[in-house]
Amino acid sequence: MTQDDDLRTYGDAAAADLTFNCPLGEARAADLVERLAPPAPDGRALDLGCGSGELLLRLCERHGTSGDGVDQHQGDLARARRGARERGLAGRVTFHETDATAWERPATTVVNVGAAHIWGDAATALAALRDVTAPAGTVLFADGVYEASPGAEVREIFGDLPDLATLARTATDAGFRVRHAATSTQSEWDDFESAWRAGVERVGTPGARRFADERREEYLGGYRDVVGFAWLVLTPA
Ligand SMILES: C[S@@+](CC[C@H](N)C(=O)[O-])C[C@H]1O[C@@H](n2cnc3c(N)ncnc32)[C@H](O)[C@@H]1O
Repeated sequence: MTQDDDLRTYGDAAAADLTFNCPLGEARAADLVERLAPPAPDGRALDLGCGSGELLLRLCERHGTSGDGVDQHQGDLARARRGARERGLAGRVTFHETDATAWERPATTVVNVGAAHIWGDAATALAALRDVTAPAGTVLFADGVYEASPGAEVREIFGDLPDLATLARTATDAGFRVRHAATSTQSEWDDFESAWRAGVERVGTPGARRFADERREEYLGGYRDVVGFAWLVLTPA
């Protein structure tokens, strides 16, 4: 196996038992689902970079809407489709294995969580999301921000992230009004990181344990308290 294969294996193992592949706790998930109520019962939800589809399934279940999830990861999509079948949603929620940048059909609820990198950066992602948001629609956009000044090692891992205020301005520049802005709590981050490392460790090899240890060091000794995860609920301006 190459080093890239190893990293893919560890990433898949890390995500396998996560409900959400980002620092999102149950209380915030429930709150966001309420904030994303569609403007009309015939609304359609769209999650670009949906992963295993949990948030989209919850949205469609709660609001009785139809939806599309878009991702390129076959394992995540298989889990998403299984979830839809188990909840009786397979008739109205469809998961597409395709590149999200090619998606054109507008929706009333558009979700992009932890997947702005699909377009390269937040500004390009927000412009693309604006293009597929119906006039009375709502967007949930979530991505990394700096909450404190990063040291050189953290900056090397995460690159040039905005702070929350800059991200909100980027959203308004892309043609949105910011209806809600927040960042994940420390406890959501700690839970996410611990669960992620536990998934890697379940691979059961010395390499996996080393990888999990490195991630723990990077987090506890580096980006904890520095990198935040921002949640923006947006409507077209
Ligand atoms: C960090 S995960 C977030 C998944 C999900 N939104 C969540 O919060 O659980 C990022 C997702 O983006 C997907 N992705 C990356 N590039 C993509 C592309 N070009 N088109 C569609 N999905 C893509 C990955 O497969 C992955 O599932």
